[in-house]
Amino acid sequence: MTTVRISPFTPSTLKIMTYRFNDVPEVRSNLKKVSYLADEGIAGVVYLGDRLQKPVLVEGPAGTGKTQLAKSVAEMNGARLIRLQCYEGLDESKALYEWNYKKQLLRIQAERNLSGDGSWEEIEDDIFSDEFLLTRPLLEAIQSEDPVVLLIDEVDRVEIETEALLLEILSDYQVSIPELGTVTARQIPLVFLTSNNTRELSEALKRRCLFLHIDYPDLEREREIILTKVPDINEALSDQIARVVRSVRQLDLKKAPSVSETLDWARTLVHLGVDHIDAKTATDTVNILLKYRSDIEKTVKEFATDESLNIDQSSDG
Ligand SMILES: Nc1ncnc2c1ncn2[C@@H]1O[C@H](COP(=O)(O)OP(=O)(O)OP(=O)(O)O)[C@@H](O)[C@H]1O
Ligand SMILES: [Mg+2]
Repeated sequence: MTTVRISPFTPSTLKIMTYRFNDVPEVRSNLKKVSYLADEGIAGVVYLGDRLQKPVLVEGPAGTGKTQLAKSVAEMNGARLIRLQCYEGLDESKALYEWNYKKQLLRIQAERNLSGDGSWEEIEDDIFSDEFLLTRPLLEAIQSEDPVVLLIDEVDRVEIETEALLLEILSDYQVSIPELGTVTARQIPLVFLTSNNTRELSEALKRRCLFLHIDYPDLEREREIILTKVPDINEALSDQIARVVRSVRQLDLKKAPSVSETLDWARTLVHLGVDHIDAKTATDTVNILLKYRSDIEKTVKEFATDESLNIDQSSDG
């Protein structure tokens, strides 16, 4: 019987494993090369995730680059991204593995139709071998021979009981399959979990991870993100966009604009041929930035009194 069992890494093989990054600045500059602008804190946790071989749990408001971080780390390492998108009702058969029942039935049928002299034990051994196993993202990630980054996205959407599925893989990089035994990782993947914090995650899960909170970027970093991600934008406009968005975030809103909404707004302004934002332009396009009527009304009032948006450009210089 062929099995998917893989020789486990031992403490001695761990010692000879090479690290992916030399230092924190290298992580930061490599991320920049793939258009992800990380601050020192983000780069530091990615570096430690590799050094300590621990998964990174990324939390923070929507649209602040949590998912993109995992994608960008995969891209900068030339690694394959394996993504497990979490949702309510996600179970073992979608996250870990599933037996291919149809194929198993066919195998049993074929045995009966042909000779029919195979013992049940032989057939059982056969149909519970890796040939009949359908691998799902978690198992696929640890079985992979080439470098992978495993992204477990929006982990707060699964029920707390389902979190338990993840614990073995996150602490020991292995999966136990009752009929087959333990499948141990060929290499330790970089693992990122993201959460919007819609509910508290279990202590057991948190304990296994390094924690990274990604908040809205500061002015300078958001300006850089705009410059990197929006073609044909000039420095002055990206600076003004970053400033306006920052002041909008300071209002008491139901849902503050995220980085992705900043980028959508910047692209809109470029398409409209705007090179300086005044109160009218901001008001006309505010629906790109905000998605609640009450937020829009509050913000539009602010725009009307915001001095930086009400400078008469024609009398400048
Ligand atoms: N630091 C950054 N550098 C470059 N792009 C960024 C950065 N942060 C966010 N973005 C951009 O913002 C967008 C949203 O990012 P992403 O989807 O990763 O957010 P998220 O935090 O996962 O949001 P959600 O919680 O809604 O899933 C992407 O288009 C991404 O490219
Ligand atoms: Mg996301």
